[in-house]
Amino acid sequence: MDSPPELHALSKLARSEELADRSFANGVLRLRYARFPEERPQTKAAYDEARACSLHFHAKTRAALQDGTLRGGALRKLLEEHPSPDPFVEEVLELAHPPLDEAPLPAHHTPYVASGLTEVLHALDVTRLGPGDTLVDVGAGLGKVVLLAHLLTGARAQGVELDGALVNQARASAASLGLEGVEFVQGDAREVELGDAKVYYLFSPFAAEVLEAVLARLEAIAARRSLFVCASPTPCAWLTPVSAPSSWLVVHRTVHPA
Ligand SMILES: C[S@@+](CC[C@H](N)C(=O)[O-])C[C@H]1O[C@@H](n2cnc3c(N)ncnc32)[C@H](O)[C@@H]1O
Repeated sequence: MDSPPELHALSKLARSEELADRSFANGVLRLRYARFPEERPQTKAAYDEARACSLHFHAKTRAALQDGTLRGGALRKLLEEHPSPDPFVEEVLELAHPPLDEAPLPAHHTPYVASGLTEVLHALDVTRLGPGDTLVDVGAGLGKVVLLAHLLTGARAQGVELDGALVNQARASAASLGLEGVEFVQGDAREVELGDAKVYYLFSPFAAEVLEAVLARLEAIAARRSLFVCASPTPCAWLTPVSAPSSWLVVHRTVHPA
């Protein structure tokens, strides 16, 4: 089946040299994929082509990440000086094209949306994450926080994610950069091992009783060691807010018994 002219135009825009055009066109391609099932093969072909094209645009930056020369302060400077840092870093890290088929989520679970770079940097700064530390992103999606935490600080970083398609893509993105300090575990945050990290990051992955169950697990870890929880405002007696840079993010640290 031939592509309709508007899909053809979108496909061209999704391969434009302009990051803003690519970003816009990819969003529309995702919407069309959901809205027009009869066009899915052509939409997917355009989306896959756009993904390959975006990697091509960032080949030099990706090579520097692969050989380890672009890390820490140099990477941070590059991101902070970019006029559109979020779409830029998502393309560079191969996170800009989430799977087109979204798995239905159970009640109280949030679908995948990536954190903003500003919030991630704030969390890394306030918690002073560094080499020898571990961060766990609970509900990691495609791994933006996990990859950035490792690349910017040298810490080990782990993502826990329910959706297997997101986990597979996150693992592939990390492997394509040859990163060894990151790991993605597929499973429900109420059940899988949550490790012994210094920082737990939760960008509103779930609510209600799911959130309560996961917070109870973190409280049990906090009984053994001090830690940070970066999340929406979380009024728990065992946590105290340290800073709140945005409407959803509060960095909390554990309250120690006297
Ligand atoms: C808003 S996204 C955040 C993605 C990522 N943390 C970031 O900040 O870029 C929330 C993610 O939590 C995942 N999620 C929802 N419920 C979950 C659960 N019970 N266990 C693990 N992951 C879950 C969703 O699949 C989704 O990818």
